[in-house]
Amino acid sequence: MTIATKRPGQAPPAELLDPAERMSVDELRALQLSRLQWTLRHAYDNVPHYRARFDAHGVHPDDCRELRDIARFPTTTKADLRETYPFGMFAVPRERIARIHASSGTTGRPTVVGYTAGDIDNWATLVARSIRAAGGRPGHRVHVAYGYGLFTGGLGAHYGVEKLGATAIPVSGGMTPRQVQLITDFEPEVIMLTPSYMLTLLDEFDRQGIDPRATSLRIGIFGAEPWTERMRAEIEERTGIHAVDIYGLSEVMGPGVSQECVETKDGLHIWEDHFLPEVVDPLDGDPLPDGEEGELLFTSLTKEGLPIIRYRTRDLTTLLPGTARPQMRRMAKITGRSDDMIILRGVNLFPTQIEEIVLRTPGCAPHFQLELSTEQRMDVLSVRVEARHDTPAERREAAAAELVRAVKETIGVTVTCSLVDPDTLERSVGKLQRLVDRRRS
Ligand code: DLL
Repeated sequence: MTIATKRPGQAPPAELLDPAERMSVDELRALQLSRLQWTLRHAYDNVPHYRARFDAHGVHPDDCRELRDIARFPTTTKADLRETYPFGMFAVPRERIARIHASSGTTGRPTVVGYTAGDIDNWATLVARSIRAAGGRPGHRVHVAYGYGLFTGGLGAHYGVEKLGATAIPVSGGMTPRQVQLITDFEPEVIMLTPSYMLTLLDEFDRQGIDPRATSLRIGIFGAEPWTERMRAEIEERTGIHAVDIYGLSEVMGPGVSQECVETKDGLHIWEDHFLPEVVDPLDGDPLPDGEEGELLFTSLTKEGLPIIRYRTRDLTTLLPGTARPQMRRMAKITGRSDDMIILRGVNLFPTQIEEIVLRTPGCAPHFQLELSTEQRMDVLSVRVEARHDTPAERREAAAAELVRAVKETIGVTVTCSLVDPDTLERSVGKLQRLVDRRRS
């Protein structure tokens, strides 16, 4: 992949780092073990569902003597949270729950999570750490365009901004023209939102005739959905900001489980003083060594309200050694969710692979949609991409053909592609749904 070399940002001075960011690996592992033992006991003693699952599995919290013993414990899935809906996984009396969030859940019941005041404080500390790792500093203004509400994005980011000693501008998602106006008027240095919504904002800047490079923005912290190195290059080129990745999920906490450091932009450091990661084979759940791609699992190490044991995230990634924070492992940018994997005539592919190709095909704008349908009993994947404004109509067919060829060459399947008029595909205001599956409808 040939992308212009990434421009490194400024590392935080050592005195601004949290003590855990300066620990040795041995200190960190010892801290993790004692916190893991506490978590297992807390879950077993206070959540009947965990107790029943541990008992059925023939394990007891006392069986955890070293970190790798975690593999002996049963995993937790969304189904466990649904089965105990709404509050059955909470491990503290209800009056100790300071806040509730929930995932929207496209099918079935939402998954509900609860936080004690202590959990909220840890969460804010980790988001503050994340913003600092991204280059944010006390005194910066931070425009938060993640949605506020049951979704963890808005409030999660917000409390982190305040904890850092920065100024929160709680705009939430939507009302895009106003977002541009507030950025122009309030002059934030940092913006936090989904990468797909950033693209929507950039279109709005164009429409209003404002050059995003001329604004006060210096740093963008993007997450809640997968995005690629190509997308980073596209956003950085159009805006001049540093674009870094933030990851998290409501079941484990919310944003700030891991964060990319701006000085290296090489994947996300997992805040291992609060979360123990594992990667397993997505099919049989067998543990995989660091360096191999598989499904990411997390065990919380400090959460009181809802301890989560070996949560199967469905997110596919690889655990890598620490760099900017040497003791904390990194996770590679998420390839996709195992649920989003498209199996097209026997070949596995992810929307992120198509994103990489769309963004490097001349004439294609970064807006595209995927549609799966059935034609003569065969699955067909159609890629609808917007033409760039400066792409002449007669170039479109050639661009579409180029994309089809690139997909065939790199992924090994044949797709169909059409370039549609600029500004015709639906825009994201939060998490973008890339794929429409019409095979069953
Ligand atoms: O999306 C929390 C969040 C908010 C993260 C804001 C980052 C920024 P959920 O709604 O529970 O929580 O969705 C979690 O979103 O399992 C991933 O599939 C996906 N996801 C989150 N961050 C990233 C990322 C929030 N940086 C689900 N890259 C996760 C790829 C991400 N996917």
